[in-house]
Amino acid sequence: MIKLTPPMGWNSWNTFGNNISDQLIRETADMMVESGLLAAGYEYLVIDDCWSEKMRDENGRLVPDHEKFPNGMKAVADYVHSKGLKFGMYSCDGYFTCAAYPGSYDYEFIDAETFAEWGVDYLKYDNCYKPEFVPGRLLYHKMSLALENCGRDIMFSACNWGVDNVQDWIKETGAHLWRSTGDIVDNWDSVKRLLWQQVKYQRFNGLGCFNDMDMLIVGMHGKGNVGIGGCTDTEYKTHFSAWAMLNSPLMIGCDIREMSEETKAILTNRDIIAINQDPAGRQPYLISGNPHSDDYSQMQTWAKHLEGGDIAIGMFNMSDHAQAPWFGLSDLGLDHTAGRALEITDLWTGEVLGTFYDIFRTRVEPHDCKMLRCRVVKADGNYTKPYC
Ligand code: GLA
Repeated sequence: MIKLTPPMGWNSWNTFGNNISDQLIRETADMMVESGLLAAGYEYLVIDDCWSEKMRDENGRLVPDHEKFPNGMKAVADYVHSKGLKFGMYSCDGYFTCAAYPGSYDYEFIDAETFAEWGVDYLKYDNCYKPEFVPGRLLYHKMSLALENCGRDIMFSACNWGVDNVQDWIKETGAHLWRSTGDIVDNWDSVKRLLWQQVKYQRFNGLGCFNDMDMLIVGMHGKGNVGIGGCTDTEYKTHFSAWAMLNSPLMIGCDIREMSEETKAILTNRDIIAINQDPAGRQPYLISGNPHSDDYSQMQTWAKHLEGGDIAIGMFNMSDHAQAPWFGLSDLGLDHTAGRALEITDLWTGEVLGTFYDIFRTRVEPHDCKMLRCRVVKADGNYTKPYC
């Protein structure tokens, strides 16, 4: 097992799409180090689709695009590694990738060997142009076996967008993450939809094989390949918090060479990242919000039990109105017989809000959120009054 917690890094697709190059990857690698992203935990730099020539070479091997990557891919990988980062690439289980470059169908073992030679540490594996007569399950089995036998540790990132009942079989393949959604685009509606689609998948989420809610759009502000509309910084904060809370991989999608201070502050909040990277990797669960409703714009509160006994709470106001959400300690298993209260810290402000018994209530502005870390303490009669 390469890593137990959700991977963190950067991926080229959301902003750059086809517009990738050796220079972009080197500048991004530099910036991941200089900006403190690597120190915050973002270690994988992943090149998505559109990196190859349209034809394989005479030996059937994939060839990096000569104009985009004139020094070849090993040179890029070496540079990325020299910065203390890990290097990721992309392929697809079909005849072609989603952007119509050669796919790995029937070339799985050759491609895995090629990736290993180049020094690849992570493979995102897509699902376009797949032959109809082969079950997707077998194609993910095949590539996972190719990777396991290629002589290098390569993290397997399965990306079939939640089709073919992937949740039932993906763990057979050893994939470390599996896309449980369609593609994200850079707007608030997309964030709301993807989050709500996750409710039904939580029972499959957990240590070593995490539900992948797709790459982050934080800081895109409508620019780039999937920049359709953009979000406010508050919405990006809520998006980041929700992805962190639900154990999603945190793969940055904006142009980090131009990131604002607000974007950086969101992406590098260590307390929020710690919730995502909690070593126990337990399933998050919904404690308020109607899981049977199709209303993806509802106020929702999620909980996750952390290693060591703390509890993370994420209160996400996906609605367009201010809300006064609350939860009871009994929603978490702490009824009165436990004799316990919660000392609660607001992770975005750093403020210790007090010690709460029975219930906690707060106010959340439209599209905003609260991320709380709760410490279980003895109930001693000295409590903070809930917000009224
Ligand atoms: C699919 C994937 C995206 C991206 C593109 C590349 O749509 O879901 O994440 O990799 O292909 O073409």
